[in-house]
Amino acid sequence: MGEQKKLYIKTYGCQMNVYDSERMAEALGGSGYVTTETPDDADMILLNTCHIREKAAEKVYSELGRFKGLKTANPDLKIGVAGCVAQAEGEEIMRRQPMVDLVVGPQSYHRLPELETKAREGRKALDTDFPEEDKFDHLAKRPKAKRGPTAFLTVQEGCDKFCAFCVVPYTRGAEVSRPVDRVLTEARDLVERGVREITLLGQNVNAYHGNGADGDWTLSRLIRELAKVEGLERIRYTTSHPNDMDDDLIAAHGEVPELMPYLHLPVQSGSDRILKRMNRSHTAESYLRLIERIREARPDILMSGDFIVGFPEETDADFEDTMELVRQVRYGQCYSFKYSTRPGTPAAERAQVDADVASERLQRLQALLTQQQTEIQAAMVGKEVGVLFEKVGRREGQLIGKSDHLHAVHAEASPDMIGKIARVRITSAAPNSLAGKVI
Ligand code: SAH
Ligand code: SF4
Ligand code: F3S
Repeated sequence: MGEQKKLYIKTYGCQMNVYDSERMAEALGGSGYVTTETPDDADMILLNTCHIREKAAEKVYSELGRFKGLKTANPDLKIGVAGCVAQAEGEEIMRRQPMVDLVVGPQSYHRLPELETKAREGRKALDTDFPEEDKFDHLAKRPKAKRGPTAFLTVQEGCDKFCAFCVVPYTRGAEVSRPVDRVLTEARDLVERGVREITLLGQNVNAYHGNGADGDWTLSRLIRELAKVEGLERIRYTTSHPNDMDDDLIAAHGEVPELMPYLHLPVQSGSDRILKRMNRSHTAESYLRLIERIREARPDILMSGDFIVGFPEETDADFEDTMELVRQVRYGQCYSFKYSTRPGTPAAERAQVDADVASERLQRLQALLTQQQTEIQAAMVGKEVGVLFEKVGRREGQLIGKSDHLHAVHAEASPDMIGKIARVRITSAAPNSLAGKVI
């Protein structure tokens, strides 16, 4: 082996990018790279980027600007852009920012070692193909190193839904599911290395249809199989589309104890008129009925979702429909965004809502969502919950973990409890976390 080189990766965007960053670090591990926590002494800086909203995409350019000094100080430093901005604007990035040595899209990061060599030789290193070969197959065997108690595992990638506002079908390509045996092998390997909770990832994870020995498996079948893996104590999945919540997946929420009572199910709007224009193919009513059925299967399930306000042509009345839907669902936690025009998507051509109007709507929606979250958190006080401890807290003697419902929980416990699930009595609630006592 040659000398060790330092790799600094900064990750933006969704959890899949977090997973991808781990895989990229592994791929470059074969070329002698070890990851470092700071860009200052790095031999390579990789930005794993997100293209979902304009602000997210613009961050790349400002971030690159900040690395200019490092590049001047160390001309051998290689700078790479990966992820969804790389996919969407790779050529443009190389033009706009000559200091970028390497561009790699989300489907070709298994080719990073070759790209790195090219970049070192001073050649143009850009790969934004949607290659025929499966990147997951090409990744280096994972080192058997221990790791933290929670992990992401991508089981499905890409999207065929083409919501009118969204870049994902263009940056991540068509929907693909990984074969069942690959997923099970990866999950067992993670558990061997100390993982107790796995979150299955996909842009449309509940549309999973991976190939198994006897045909295609659904997500619920995969979850039921994963639940049998000894040592895997918690399973989650994200993100789901309302139209792909099938009967067995709903049933699994009531039947599989390892499947945690938390569901991220984005609705985007409460107005049928807007949902139609968004190409969402569900209505507010069908979404509400779906949640009713999920709550019948698992009454304490905590609902989460995503909203876009100020989508083109959204009227006050449309927005009020969204507020009404939120009041009916009562969410435990949500993400809400002002509509951002994405070049190349169908909605980009339509009449835009006034920016101030959209901001005001977003404020009102977020106030309501915060109120619901606060009430639900406050109602946890006095309850006994399971907490998987993940790390030491800021205060001496304190550990931080997640409850079954994905609430962050602080409690006094000894560090050897990290990676274990404890019963905790919740004693107080803050806006974004709970505190409790181990029972
Ligand atoms: N695959 C997931 C997540 C997609 S991106 C899903 O289908 O839900 C995550 C969230 O970003 C979306 O749910 C949506 O609320 C938001 N989003 C996507 N495109 C956007 C845009 N152009 N402007 C504002 N928010 C957007
Ligand atoms: Fe984007 Fe819609 Fe696909 Fe989600 S379902 S990734 S919002 S196109
Ligand atoms: Fe962003 Fe790409 Fe994820 S656009 S949200 S990083 S799939």
